[in-house]
Amino acid sequence: MKVGNRHYRTIWVNEDGVSVDIIDQRWLPHDFRVVTLKTVDDVAVAIRDMWVRGAPLIGVTAAYGVAIAMRADPSDAHLDKVWDELNETRPTAINLRWALNAMRDYLRPIAAEKRAEAAYLRAAAIADEDVDLNRSIGRYGLDVIRKIAATKKPGEPVNILTHCNAGWLATVDYGTATAPIYLATEEGIPVHVYVDETRPRNQGAQLTAWEMNGHGVPHTLVVDNAGGHLMQHGDVDMVIVGTDRTTARGDVCNKIGTYLKALAARDNGVPFYVALPSPTIDWTVHDGVKEIPIEERNSDEVSYVQGRLADGSITTVRISPDGSPAANPAFDVTPARLITGLITERGIATPSEEGLKALFPERS
Ligand code: MRU
Repeated sequence: MKVGNRHYRTIWVNEDGVSVDIIDQRWLPHDFRVVTLKTVDDVAVAIRDMWVRGAPLIGVTAAYGVAIAMRADPSDAHLDKVWDELNETRPTAINLRWALNAMRDYLRPIAAEKRAEAAYLRAAAIADEDVDLNRSIGRYGLDVIRKIAATKKPGEPVNILTHCNAGWLATVDYGTATAPIYLATEEGIPVHVYVDETRPRNQGAQLTAWEMNGHGVPHTLVVDNAGGHLMQHGDVDMVIVGTDRTTARGDVCNKIGTYLKALAARDNGVPFYVALPSPTIDWTVHDGVKEIPIEERNSDEVSYVQGRLADGSITTVRISPDGSPAANPAFDVTPARLITGLITERGIATPSEEGLKALFPERS
């Protein structure tokens, strides 16, 4: 998507054909910084410390990590070692394991001397595929927005609430939850987005709001606890969020707080949609609450907030008393029964095993 007058993806290979550039998301919206990843360790740090984040982008970054590793040492042993090293960087988003498996399965039969070149091509294909999947999700999601828009008075916006950042920054381009929003905006359908701030790391306030600003999408930033109130007053027409892992029966694991939005949506009759590319489906798990590992991040993310001072410098400040412990589960699970539809690249699935398998019959 555009930053200023330039089109950016979130990750790309440099002219040297080896190192990879990423947008370092830790500094947005205050600073737009691009950093170069040259080694597998660089890639592991960038994923673990959330220089890049968002399930699809984590997967693509890991795929390029494997490619970088194959330039250094294309042996089977190294391939397995790198798979392990990158797989443990973040535990919840299944796209990470999906991309690592895709790379390993593809590279295994290829002779060692040809592996590096093949690995970059495969990683690039995974990146391009992500863009295609998101565009397709966008088209199906656009149909939902169009239908709601048809019930509105002329000029009245469709009010959409979203949580965290499932935007282009979380993917290679377009985003999942934001793809329908961008397409609706391009088509001239008036939309207005309520952006949850998404404590503790504020991906909504820092990243989604930055995206909406950059693409001229009318939006309002709200605290995480405002959603229920807005829904009670008829201010939200639909909720759309992303997912880090969707189970075979349609339970959705996404950023902490998503579940509470789904409960409020159900209580107020507001449709609750999840946008997901198929690599986000973990066909091996069913009960999301019991089976999905939830990342527990450093409690300092709760006890401190990051912001920009008047002099332009970026700093963190403590917001709780010294000595007050904090807990930081990063994701929660929204059971399928609370979800209106799963917007995939093949269409909108009813949130159930039958619904998903109807769109992905090869999984039956
Ligand atoms: O911890 P993050 O910032 O990686 O979490 C991101 C989310 O929860 C997104 O909603 C999810 O990855 C879907 S991104 C298309």
